[in-house]
Amino acid sequence: MTARELKEKFIQFFVSRQHVEIPSSRLVPENDPTTLFISAGMQQLIPYFSGTPHPVGKRITDIQKCVRTGDIDDVGDSFHHTFFEMLGNWSLGDYFKKEMISWSYEFLTKVLDINPANLFVTCFAGNKDVSKDDISASIWESLGISSDHIIFLEDNWWGPAGTTGPCGPDSEMFIDTHPELPEVDFKTGDKQGRYLEVWNDVFLNYNKTNNGIFEKLIQDNVDTGMGVERTTAILNGFDDNYLTSIWQPIIKKIEQISGENYIDKKYTKPIRIIADHIRSAVFIIADGVEPSNKEAGYVLRRLIRRAIRQGKIIGIDTNFISQIANTVLDNQDNYAGVYPELNQNRDKIISILNAEENKFRKTLDNGLREINKLIEKNNSVSGKEAFTLYESFGFPVEMIEEEMKKNNLVLNREEFDNAKNMHIKQSQTSSAGKFKSGLADNSEIITKYHTATHLLHQSLRKILGEHVRQSGSNITIDRLRFDFSHDEKLTEDQLKQLSDLINQKIKASLVVTKETMPFIQAQKEGAIAFFGNKYPEIVSVYTVGPKDSFFSKEVCTGPHVSNTNELGFFEITKEESAGAGKRRIYAILK
Ligand code: SER
Repeated sequence: MTARELKEKFIQFFVSRQHVEIPSSRLVPENDPTTLFISAGMQQLIPYFSGTPHPVGKRITDIQKCVRTGDIDDVGDSFHHTFFEMLGNWSLGDYFKKEMISWSYEFLTKVLDINPANLFVTCFAGNKDVSKDDISASIWESLGISSDHIIFLEDNWWGPAGTTGPCGPDSEMFIDTHPELPEVDFKTGDKQGRYLEVWNDVFLNYNKTNNGIFEKLIQDNVDTGMGVERTTAILNGFDDNYLTSIWQPIIKKIEQISGENYIDKKYTKPIRIIADHIRSAVFIIADGVEPSNKEAGYVLRRLIRRAIRQGKIIGIDTNFISQIANTVLDNQDNYAGVYPELNQNRDKIISILNAEENKFRKTLDNGLREINKLIEKNNSVSGKEAFTLYESFGFPVEMIEEEMKKNNLVLNREEFDNAKNMHIKQSQTSSAGKFKSGLADNSEIITKYHTATHLLHQSLRKILGEHVRQSGSNITIDRLRFDFSHDEKLTEDQLKQLSDLINQKIKASLVVTKETMPFIQAQKEGAIAFFGNKYPEIVSVYTVGPKDSFFSKEVCTGPHVSNTNELGFFEITKEESAGAGKRRIYAILK
C-alpha cells in the first residue's frame, strides 16, 4: 500500500462516519507563540476543545503537515523524521472512548488487514492527578485484544502541544513487526523497535493551565494521530521507513549525485539525514519561512546546513540541495495534489535553497582556507584558533576536527570549549556593563533616548524585517547610536519611512507601561530580548502602546518615559556600516 492509498483510506473511513475533512494548517502556527512549528494535527483545533463550535461540526478528519525538531539528533535512524504527515480524526465533545477504540480496531484489522493477534495496546496507568484508564482497557478487551497485549503505562498522557492547553490520557496501538519470532515482553519489544507504534487515540478532556494545574475541560474530546511514514513502512513489511516509495526517489537521487550506495552502512545515515532535512526544508519554505538567525528561520537554516555537511561526508562538494528538493517536489502522487503550496512556490523554494547553499559554501571555503593557512604555518590549530574560526566564519567545529584529521592532527576540544565559554562570559559581562553604564545617568533626556531606541528597534523590524536585531546601543545626552543586523545600506526611502513611523508613534501619544514577569512569560508574550542568557528569571518588560495591540515590547531595565508624546521630534542624522552584516544609525530628539 502506498502512502497515498493509506491517506485516502483513512480519510474515507472517517468521512463515511460523518467526519468532515479539513485542510492541513500551515506548518508555522499563526496565533500560537508557545510553539515554533505545528507538531500535531490537533493544534489548529485547540480553541474548539473547550466548547466553541467548529464551523464544520463536531467530527473532523485531516492530513496534517508536522515538524518536530525535538529529536533532530535522532534523525539518521530508520524512523525519526523532522517533517512528517499525520493522519487524524477528532471528536469535539461528540463521541468518546467506546466509538473511537472500536473504530481504531476496525480500521487497523479490517481496512489495513492487520492480524489482531499482532496488535499491542497501551493505556494510561494513572497518576496523582488522573486515575487509571480501565475503561479503554476493557473496550480493547471486549474487541478481542488479549489482556496480555494490553499494557498500562504512566506516560500514556499526551500534550499539551505547547506549554499549556488541552491534553489527556491516551491509548497507543503497536504492531508486532516480526510475529514469526517468539513473542517478547512488551517493553523489550518496544525498545528493540520490534513493536512499533502506529496510532495514538488521545482522550483530550484536560487543560493544563499557566500554573501547571490540570483542570477538566467542559467536554470530552477525541484526538488521534497516525504517522503516515511509519505506517506505510510497516504495511509494506519494511523495518526502515526510507525503503518506502515516499523516500526512494529522494534516496536514489542522492545516490546518483554522490555515487555512493544507501545500503553501504557508511553512507546510510548521512543519506537519510540529507533526505529528511531537505524534504523538511521544502515544506517549511513552501509555508513562507526563509532562512534566518531566528526562530523558525533558524531551524530551517540549520536543516539546510546540516544537509550540506552530510553531503560533504558522502563526497558531494558542489551545489546539490536544489536537485534533491526538485525530487521532493516531483513526488506529485504523494504530495502535489494534497499540498498545492508546493507547486505554487516551486521557483521560490529552489531559489531560496540555492542562495542559502551558496552562502554556506562560501563560509565553508573561507574557513577551510584559514584552517589550512594555520596548519601550514604552525602544523597545528589550537583550541583558541579553532574557536576564532568558529566564531568569525561560522565554521562548524566538527569540520575543523575533520580537516585537522586529514593532516593527522587532533583538536584540543577542551581548549576550544574553554575559549567558547570565556567568550560567552565576556560578552555577557560587557553587555551588562554597557547596559548599566547607560542606566547610570537617569536624566530626562537619557530616559527619552531609551524609549526612542525601543521605537527605532521595532520600526526597523517592521520596515526591514524580523531579521533585524540589536547588536549594540549607546546613548549620550546628545544622541542615540544603534547597531543592528542587516546586510545592505538603507535607502533614502527606507530612512524616511523609519523616521515617519517613529514620529507617527510619538504623535499617537502611546502609553509606555512597565510589568514584571518571568523571562519565559515575557518571551511568550513576544517581548524582544537581547542579552539572552544573562537575564534573571524575573524581568521587567516595557510595552509601548495598548497591551492587546502593542507597537513594541522589550525586556529592559529601563527607565523609560511614560508616554511617547514626551519625545518631541525624532531625526536620523547618519546611517553607516558597523562591520560585516551590521548597520549603525545615529539619531537625535529635537
Ligand atoms: N495529538 C496526538 C499526537 O500527536 C494524537 O494526534 O500523537
